[in-house]
Amino acid sequence: MTEHAPLRADGPAASPRAALVTGASSGIGFAMARELAQRGYDVLVVADRGVDEAVHRLREHTGTPVTGLQADLTLPAGVEATAARARDLEVRTFVLNAGVGVHGPFLHTPLQDELRLVDLNVRSVVHLAHLVVPDLVAAGSGRIVVVSSIAATMPAPLFGTYAASKAFLRSFAWSLRGELAGTGVSVTTVLPSGTRTPFFRAAEMERTHIGRAPKASPAMVARRAVDALQDGRAEVATGLQAKALVAIARLLPQPARAAFHGWFYAPGAPPPSSPSSR
Ligand SMILES: NC(=O)c1ccc[n+]([C@@H]2O[C@H](COP(=O)([O-])OP(=O)(O)OC[C@H]3O[C@@H](n4cnc5c(N)ncnc54)[C@H](OP(=O)(O)O)[C@@H]3O)[C@@H](O)[C@H]2O)c1
Repeated sequence: MTEHAPLRADGPAASPRAALVTGASSGIGFAMARELAQRGYDVLVVADRGVDEAVHRLREHTGTPVTGLQADLTLPAGVEATAARARDLEVRTFVLNAGVGVHGPFLHTPLQDELRLVDLNVRSVVHLAHLVVPDLVAAGSGRIVVVSSIAATMPAPLFGTYAASKAFLRSFAWSLRGELAGTGVSVTTVLPSGTRTPFFRAAEMERTHIGRAPKASPAMVARRAVDALQDGRAEVATGLQAKALVAIARLLPQPARAAFHGWFYAPGAPPPSSPSSR
């Protein structure tokens, strides 16, 4: 694990407005870190790669004392290092966002990729929450954001482990919220729909219907998510047609949900008006 020094000359002093964002080197996590910094939080950026660059860009954009921690959250040691750093800084706001996708027929996807997804999307969130929640409860205040997905609402042929991991997170976050009622600690679930981030390229999904579809900006997702966390709301669905997708998922029987949702992950032609079709 590499630690990145804070901007302030007097060291990493604890701040009542300290916030930690996992997976903050790009995409939604980076936008969440920037949004929090702009609202006055001292942000700790956690990711496996690209931490230096993210810290540099965030400091430049926001002029705030952003710090960084390089940690591979698929490993228990990475989660433990993250929790230890959070304790040092008395972090009270946690955005559990780091996640990856594995796309393709389950018959052909490499097992190590599927298990790495489970380790990051599921295991690391349970592990980190287990380590930090007692401190938040003891302090009588805290905010936890769990970045799930619209994909949590329906099974997803060709993207099954991912959708299942996000369904796990949604259920876990709601359960934890229920258990922590009255402690001063709130848990907010975020359900983004398609958002313009490196996610689709990383999962080799650019030629699928969802990969080619118009997407929301990470900045907009971050604004909505940080509004929800500050209000202590239970859940927020962000992005284009996000609320409609949640409503459709409620209405459809399970087989129809799987068929409908699977279409998004199947190969698809680009929309006629999109730049990629030219
Ligand atoms: N984009 C969408 O349409 C969408 C929709 C719904 C939900 N989401 C969710 O939003 C979250 C963020 O995704 P994104 O779209 O912003 O994609 P992204 O830009 O690819 O961000 C993923 C983040 O996770 C980090 N990460 C990956 N492996 C890691 C590891 N082993 N240890 C620590 N950090 C690791 C990455 O950092 P490094 O690779 O630099 O380590 C990166 O910062 C994910 O949980 C995703 O499931 C995305």
